[in-house]
Amino acid sequence: MTIVITLDPVSPDQHVIQHAAALLRAGRLVAFPTETVYGLGANACDAAAVERIFVAKGRPATDPLIVHVADLDMIDQVALALPPLAELLGKHFWPGPLTLILRRSPTIPPSVSAGKASVAVRIPAHPIALALIRAAGVPIAAPSANRFSRPSPTTAQHVFEDLDGRIDLILDGGPTAIGVESTILDLSSAQAEILRPGGVSLEALREVLPNVSYTPRYLGTETTATAPGSLLKHYSPRAELLLITGQRNAALRLIQTKAQLLINQRQVPGILVPEEDLAVVAGLPAQILTLGPERDLDAIAHALFANIRELDRRSVDTILVRGLSQTGLGLAIWDRLVRAAIGRVIDADKEQ
Ligand code: TXA
Ligand code: MG
Repeated sequence: MTIVITLDPVSPDQHVIQHAAALLRAGRLVAFPTETVYGLGANACDAAAVERIFVAKGRPATDPLIVHVADLDMIDQVALALPPLAELLGKHFWPGPLTLILRRSPTIPPSVSAGKASVAVRIPAHPIALALIRAAGVPIAAPSANRFSRPSPTTAQHVFEDLDGRIDLILDGGPTAIGVESTILDLSSAQAEILRPGGVSLEALREVLPNVSYTPRYLGTETTATAPGSLLKHYSPRAELLLITGQRNAALRLIQTKAQLLINQRQVPGILVPEEDLAVVAGLPAQILTLGPERDLDAIAHALFANIRELDRRSVDTILVRGLSQTGLGLAIWDRLVRAAIGRVIDADKEQ
């Protein structure tokens, strides 16, 4: 039912793009790669197509979608206006992993934005995504192409695992470059605020917008969530995930202790650490995956969701992850891990 077509990510076959665009115009669902994660696309102006996204993902109607356009000229099909500040940010960061919250145009059905007067918009930096949007000729609503609350997909295989039989087409352009989603920025009040850290770092945004703020908000349960996208349970593996922070040696000792406890209880621990830690944990009878060098946050972001999915595939009971730097892309990595851990964050320095 779900067709997968492999495409050259640099110069995609125009026949395939035209076919995918025709499906989108006919109200069907097409998953496609962006530079962050794979998106599940539908015509953003077609309320019935948008409804199919929510059904395919099992996503609550209260969680609004991001609308993707191919260039600045297309923004007026989505938003009432592009304020000067948004245009400035667009010029700096688009195409790229930045999503701006603007005032929604009446051409976009309210369901896209969960009834809000605003709309989330971005121009993705991926030749397949851009070619597809251009060929479709309409703005494309696209959340991450995973079942609701699962880790976001960074390969076509991840999309297939979650959505086979539920969508029409997956365009396979290989693994996504960044691996975590876009940064969402709300410009609606005087104080610009990051709603979700992502591919554009806080530091990079500050160079253009010195007063931009970010306050992590993790709400306790889905039912108490009032702000969209702030659900604590998100990006969740099937296994329980524990995020272990603190000074490296203490954190690694605690990971070893916790792993040993799990093994004694006949459980299978999964361990997710930077490459440098491998020698320390290698002796444990656990499923161990490394994320890349500790200092290389690009490599760690790129590997993060795929490795969490892989540990799930290996049926571990609990995943122990060492928390890393929160600078640069580290802030987005941290946010995804706290959510995947559903708040189970342990400071090893305080456990001494
Ligand atoms: O990198 C990305 O942003 C990926 C790729 C596919 O572009 N998309 C993505 O979409 O991560 P999704 O649906 O998984 O996350 C969109 C987030 C949601 O948490 C939603 O709550 C928030 O954007 N959002 C969308 N519209 C909003 C609005 N009008 N106001 C506040 N938040 C909004
Ligand atoms: Mg998502």
